[in-house]
Amino acid sequence: MTARRAMLDVLKGEPVFPPPLWMMRQAGRYLPEYRATRKKAGSFLDLCYNPDFAVEVTLQPIRRFGFDASILFSDILVVPHALGRDLRFEEGRGPLMTPMSAADIDRLDGSNFHQHLAPVYATVRRLRAELPQETTLIGFCGAPWTLATYMIAGHGTPDQAPARLFAFRHPEAMERLLAVLVDYSAQYLIRQIEAGADVVQIFDSWAGILDEATFEALCVKPVAEIVRRVHATHPGVPVIAFPRAAGSRYSTYRAKTGVTGLGLDWTVPLAQARELQAGGAVQGNLDPLRLVAGGRALSEGVGAILDALGAGPLIFNLGHGITPDAPIEHVEAMIRQVRSYTGR
Ligand code: CP3
Repeated sequence: MTARRAMLDVLKGEPVFPPPLWMMRQAGRYLPEYRATRKKAGSFLDLCYNPDFAVEVTLQPIRRFGFDASILFSDILVVPHALGRDLRFEEGRGPLMTPMSAADIDRLDGSNFHQHLAPVYATVRRLRAELPQETTLIGFCGAPWTLATYMIAGHGTPDQAPARLFAFRHPEAMERLLAVLVDYSAQYLIRQIEAGADVVQIFDSWAGILDEATFEALCVKPVAEIVRRVHATHPGVPVIAFPRAAGSRYSTYRAKTGVTGLGLDWTVPLAQARELQAGGAVQGNLDPLRLVAGGRALSEGVGAILDALGAGPLIFNLGHGITPDAPIEHVEAMIRQVRSYTGR
């Protein structure tokens, strides 16, 4: 059985031993070869929009570690960028955009959308041709709510107060913004699938910060509509969503959105994760700082996940992106431990 099949089997709800394994942000600054290519490319966006560089950094962690899945190298914010919002990345500050007003929403311009993103589609096509047959290729986008948080504030914030306030003060404008993002994000994922992505993942990094009613309106509804559109054209392609910090709402989130696989952050208790496996595959959920610490913190964290979830449909992953200070030897130790799991 090939690994590519293995991940697709897990997403159908069938356990595989050892579980398929990849890491969120697996191409990134903890790798010296990434830092070298990043330097050559100049800016972060040059890396995202140049297929030569984007293919190279996507393949780096596959060559080094032989992960079962490869995630397209890009960023969630290329979607607002392709709709005419400005975007830059500053060292140490993360993404910067011009904050958006309610009036700006009607000026979002998708007339150049797919042309702007053509380098991303080219990257996906080349990756599918260059990756080992057995490696699953994951395409992705940001969830509309998480994109909206960056578009409205213009930068990352600890509590997303600007976007939450915007939603309360201008509910109709927020609804229009999310509708535009749903429409283009669905098209974007469909194009990635048509270019060769085997699976797509929707990152909703700021799902956990909303109250009950806004969680439903701003997270669940838009993602459900994207899943519906993707599955209307490509019913067999699994969709994984990562509604970070959704807590007790993970279960209804899966039921209401119709996602195939559920990405779990590291705060999700393993007993809850096991219950979630009854509804389909889960992906996660090692605390990325266990990978920084190494030693017992790492082996116990990996062991606990395998013990609790290894018998069910599991894609082993971190509970959020790997951090730049994670030592490569610790990544190797984690991989050895996961790969030695033979089921029980
Ligand atoms: O997982 C992967 O390896 C694929 C590539 C990928 C990146 N960003 C590359 C990246 C993916 C899937 C993302 C998603 C993304 N981008 C999210 C959702 C997931 C999450 O982490 O919550 C978000 C919120 C963003 C927006 C974003 N991009 C932020 C907040 C930052 C700055 C934080 C940081 O680590 O510097 C980025 C920059 C970014 N995106 C980097 C990488 C490798 C680091 C930039 C660099 O190399 O200088």
